Amino acid sequence: MLQKILTGIKPTGQIHIGNYVGAIKPSLDLAQKDNISSYLFIADSHSLTIQPPTAELKHSIHQAASAWLACGLDPNKVFFYCQSDIPELFELNWILSCCTPKGLMNRAHSYKAKRDQNLKLGKKDLDDKVNMGLYNYPILMSADILLFSPHQVPVGGDQVQHLEMARDIAQKFNHIYKSNLFTIPKALVREQKILPGLDGRKMSKSYNNEIPLFLESKKLQKLIRKIKTDSLPAETPKDTKNCLIFQIYKHFASAKETQNLKEHYAKGIGWGEAKDILFYKLEDYFKKKKETYDHYMSQPLELEKILKTGSEKVKEEAQAFLKQVKKTVGLFKEL
Ligand code: TRP
Repeated sequence: MLQKILTGIKPTGQIHIGNYVGAIKPSLDLAQKDNISSYLFIADSHSLTIQPPTAELKHSIHQAASAWLACGLDPNKVFFYCQSDIPELFELNWILSCCTPKGLMNRAHSYKAKRDQNLKLGKKDLDDKVNMGLYNYPILMSADILLFSPHQVPVGGDQVQHLEMARDIAQKFNHIYKSNLFTIPKALVREQKILPGLDGRKMSKSYNNEIPLFLESKKLQKLIRKIKTDSLPAETPKDTKNCLIFQIYKHFASAKETQNLKEHYAKGIGWGEAKDILFYKLEDYFKKKKETYDHYMSQPLELEKILKTGSEKVKEEAQAFLKQVKKTVGLFKEL
């Protein structure tokens, strides 16, 4: 049976190799399969909860879209669109809001984290700096999902609660309106492939320890030189287990190359040499992809056209489904 999968990509600015290994590659590998119909969209409207500067948001949307295309997303095989181009989502968002108990949103991790932070800061108003977009985030995410009735939603572990909420909201709607309109989606939790960053903590923008995906060669080499190592001399045999360079390398090298490097470690290797091996590997792995990325970043209209075409492809489905929803709740008129 054809499986429909759908997932949203938050435009977060510069994409790093941790994003590639943890999310981009697994999603694209899944989308390749024959019995899978994939919906991958840029969740640009969700970004407004943090009110990024106008030009910055636009740039981040372009970066995210270019990165996915560069990494192999084929817009002829995958429905690839921007959330903000699908007005039906925002109508559904309202209808779902009216079926969502306020208490359910009170329990959302991201909202609770903000309140805890305010508590720690000694603020009187625990909702300080909480906007309704942040508060309602899980409802819009539910609309993203439920409008297209996917069977599975691939997400990282941090999104599992949101998926539970989407299921709750769908069930609530089905119950209130004695309908079975909404397919109850399942989370497909991605295997945790956590890449260490330059300092050994998880690679993340918030730790400022990331290796961006499409960095210019010289800058990439400089950055790789910053990877933390011990101070053992070159001739000392090295252990690969706790070595950040090796931990990153093995995600991009073939089994044979990985084995070769392991043997080299056992004989003794200088860190400068190990870092160069990693640098050449990454440069080689991302060379073609970087060219495609640079092409799209320099041709924003071409990029926007791809996204617009994507949204046109799902329009009919979105409209037909929303019509069903409106009929179910009593808002649809024949004329
Ligand atoms: N909240 C998700 C994240 O931060 C992005 C997202 C938005 C999403 N809408 C979605 C993911 C729908 C899956 C399905 O990563």
